[in-house]
Amino acid sequence: MMAWAAEGRHLLSIDDLGREDIQRLLTRAESFAEVSGREIKKVPTLRGRTVINLFYESSTRTSASFELAAKRLSADLLNIKSVGSSVDKGESLKDTVQTLSAYDPAAIVIRSPNAGAAQMVSRWTTASVINAGDGKHEHPTQALTDLYTLRRRVGSLEGLKLWIVGDVLHSRVARSGILAFVRMGCEVTVCGPPTLIPRGIEALGCAVRHTLDELADADVVYSLRMQLERMQGTYVPSLREYAALYQIDSRRLTPTQLLMHPGPVNRGVELDARVIDSPQALIVDQVESGVVVRMAVLFELLAGGGRGARNATEQEPQPA
Ligand code: NCD
Repeated sequence: MMAWAAEGRHLLSIDDLGREDIQRLLTRAESFAEVSGREIKKVPTLRGRTVINLFYESSTRTSASFELAAKRLSADLLNIKSVGSSVDKGESLKDTVQTLSAYDPAAIVIRSPNAGAAQMVSRWTTASVINAGDGKHEHPTQALTDLYTLRRRVGSLEGLKLWIVGDVLHSRVARSGILAFVRMGCEVTVCGPPTLIPRGIEALGCAVRHTLDELADADVVYSLRMQLERMQGTYVPSLREYAALYQIDSRRLTPTQLLMHPGPVNRGVELDARVIDSPQALIVDQVESGVVVRMAVLFELLAGGGRGARNATEQEPQPA
């Protein structure tokens, strides 16, 4: 099931990926970890190819790691943010994509507040399109980063019990995460107040809980940010009451459990400061892994998996 790299050319959803595709990407990311350990963190793989980061929403980690990933693969990179571009002047997404496509990019990385935006972009350009988060829908490279991070820490993911706690309703990270973790053999439970758990989410293969009473069952606790910017109306009585029932703190997290969070963290809301800074937390590892995983995605899409794969991590020829 390697269709996505060979024919699909896009990464829009975790559903585009079979288990083998995911495994290949994670292995590829591991090979790039060696490059990231070098003093000169650069390989010539995508030299002469253009990557455009098109971000219509705030981002620190995702945009920085896509930027570093493209640069470490020697691609030419354009960073376009909606603020400060002609989007400010009312240019539509379609016109913007068609305009940027005139520069003949090999890939467009798109983040948008609208679900389905990446899919639409893929119809308007011949570039490979990578979904860097589309509204509440999906964030596939975050899910791959999380799989990679966890696999590095624990080895096999098979049978691992993972609880995703918080604002699942507004979370593209949760949606992609559930699909990815289930595909890799994890037992996934989502937990939060009924107002923040989408109806029918069990169809993705996860269990649902509304209290943390059985949290001790989890091997890994994956905490989510309250996505206040996506909420119209009130979903919880107050952040203080939410924290009283759902905040992960050192009382609720047992010493052998691992803690993950995609960032940005609202300290004191979904997580207590002490657990964020504890050795159980993989939050910084997740940020670090983001670069090699996005290198792997760019590589598999643009350099075509098998083709050129051997040379993926070969160093830049040194001047004589
Ligand atoms: C997330 C996002 O933007 O979807 N952050 C990220 O990409 N690491 C999660 C969030 O904003 O809460």
